Amino acid sequence: MSLTITFSKNPEKNTEAAILCFYQGREQGTAAKVLNYALSGFVDHILLKSKTFKAKHGQCEIVMLPDGAPYTYAVLLGLGDADAMTPVEAEKAGGKLCAALQAAQIRSAEFYIDSDLVKDQDLAVHLAAGLKLRSYKFDLYKKAPMKAEDRPDRLELVRMVLSDCDKVSNDYFVQNAMIEGVFLARDLVNEPPNELYPDSYAKRIKAELKPLGVDVEIFDDKKMKKMGMGALLAVGQGSDFSARLVVMRWRGVSGKTVAGEPGPVALVGKGVTFDTGGISLKPGAGMDEMKMDMGGSAAVVGAMKSLALRKSKADVVGVVGLVENMPSARAYRPADIVTSYAGKTIEVLNTDAEGRLVLADALAYVQQVYKPRLIVDLATLTGAMIVALGHEFCGTFATDDVLWDNIARAGAATGEKVWRMPLDPLWKEEMESAIADVQNMAKSGRDAGSCTAAGFLWHFIEDGTAWAHMDIAGTAWIKADKPVTPKYGTGFGVRLLDRMIAENYEQEF
Ligand code: BES
Ligand code: MN
Ligand code: ZN
Repeated sequence: MSLTITFSKNPEKNTEAAILCFYQGREQGTAAKVLNYALSGFVDHILLKSKTFKAKHGQCEIVMLPDGAPYTYAVLLGLGDADAMTPVEAEKAGGKLCAALQAAQIRSAEFYIDSDLVKDQDLAVHLAAGLKLRSYKFDLYKKAPMKAEDRPDRLELVRMVLSDCDKVSNDYFVQNAMIEGVFLARDLVNEPPNELYPDSYAKRIKAELKPLGVDVEIFDDKKMKKMGMGALLAVGQGSDFSARLVVMRWRGVSGKTVAGEPGPVALVGKGVTFDTGGISLKPGAGMDEMKMDMGGSAAVVGAMKSLALRKSKADVVGVVGLVENMPSARAYRPADIVTSYAGKTIEVLNTDAEGRLVLADALAYVQQVYKPRLIVDLATLTGAMIVALGHEFCGTFATDDVLWDNIARAGAATGEKVWRMPLDPLWKEEMESAIADVQNMAKSGRDAGSCTAAGFLWHFIEDGTAWAHMDIAGTAWIKADKPVTPKYGTGFGVRLLDRMIAENYEQEF
């Protein structure tokens, strides 16, 4: 059972716990005072006598209440410095609260948001969003029968108690649409590669999105061969699972496309369902993590779900290239020269630099068929990105300053951190081949590997197109929990894309 969050003006006092929040150095709110009174001064007692609870940001103190109290537990949540509170900080506090409730095996709680303490009641939306984001679990494959007490960390219900409950619950609807998209992206990344391969993935996309009003078109390998997608197909040819290209269209705008009007926003994702490296085989240790190599495509699919769920008034096309990169007798080789959809020939020097081949065809296709107003691609493209920025920031390359600004603002607003990386014609040159149009490894080798990879992609972007490339190699997958993101597939990018579209590319009526 997943976490349900509800909003109510009044408490029902039928939950296990009451959550009270405190700002550092500020007087407590009414709810705390009321509960304190009902408990003959017990809350004051904790606040005065606790050696550890300082109301620091995200700090939780959980105490059992005496028999006869309206709740079994009181949960004291620190919100830190009131002046430093922002939506992103509220989400983090909500996330840490969720982890503390799970650790204490609390299943239901009422969360008092005092209007005299939390003046900006909209923060309740973000506290709730943080709770929900952190509550995600991937347990589809936990099949062994388990007793309820062996599954203790199931937080099932949080009732937010606040005066402005109608507005906040409306605002939460939008957050919830976004979170559903994030959860789908996380699920897709966490799926094992024997279950999620190009064909099953394409079918899953259709099953998820079609009922929501998204048009979904699937191209199989035979169709792609006719279309001339030689780069994408080369990557997939070593696998028994044949490649797919999936095109998703959400038209939240009224009427038909008018000549001269900007085309759709295009989102393009790398969907390598498993990256062994191919003939340029990766080392065995840690190879299992390469099931996350479809994280870019998962972000695109998740964002399409969010847009459709909240009926975004935007026109968006999503394209994902789905392949498995395997070594076999049929696999492509280093030294092969393939012809891409754009017509440019590519000399393959390393079959492990496969993501750029998949993207080359997906990018060329979306430009030729949809004439988009802008393109954002997301890809777990280079290990070098992890070396550069670790797991906190997503390196983002952009040909267009306005597009970059919109991405940066959406990143700051959602807490999905981005850092601008340089695009330089020098790195485009680095990828020119002596015997074909381009090559998939830089002439200079591994130096600036993320930048030369971007330089390769740039060869497939038409002049004047606003394009951003987000290398999510470090941010799509984490091995330790973060405040709003439990470990493994993160769903990185969904919130940023949804926000960027909401703020900049929706039609006004
Ligand atoms: N999928 C990998 C990049 C990657 C590595 C993502 C680690 C997440 C974690 C990509 O296909 C790859 O193998 N890139 C090579 C490129 C090189 C051969 C030019 C790399 O980064 O080593
Ligand atoms: Mn690779
Ligand atoms: Zn890869």
